[in-house]
Amino acid sequence: MYNLIMKYLISVLSISILCVNLFGFYVFASEQVNHEGGFEVSDEILAIVGDIDYGEYLSSECTTCHHAQGLDEGIPSITGWPVESFVWALHSYRSGARNHPIMEMITQRLSNEEIASLAIFFESMNN
Ligand code: HEC
Repeated sequence: MYNLIMKYLISVLSISILCVNLFGFYVFASEQVNHEGGFEVSDEILAIVGDIDYGEYLSSECTTCHHAQGLDEGIPSITGWPVESFVWALHSYRSGARNHPIMEMITQRLSNEEIASLAIFFESMNN
């Protein structure tokens, strides 16, 4: 009887170790994809046309860190970027494909429309 219980325990243990390994591999594999820059934004998201005035309104939060004049002093300049690159950058933070605690937190709160509006506004700021 004792032997049976031990056998049972050992098989439960090895199954759970197997599961943990499989999960670990899954996490590892998905991180690899991210690090290879395989992140893509769908055509539907790229097709959204932002509202430049709404973008200007939203931008005040961003320019507390990013210089409105396009200076790059520690924090990268984000003015004058093509809309597609800007949208791509924000979505890659929001999805976690690109890691940065501040930008991930900020982009979590933005909708697809808000990202498009910020993109069109910052593109127009060509300094
Ligand atoms: C608290 C400071 C802070 C705020 C506020 C902030 N950012 Fe950022 N942002 C950063 C930092 C720092 C980086 C560089 C992160 C990195 O190295 O990936 C960055 C990176 C970026 C990038 C990528 C730049 C590059 O060269 O690849 C974009 C685009 C961007 N931010 C847009 C925005 C927008 C739009 C907002 C407003 C909704 C915003 N940020 C608000 C600090 C901030």
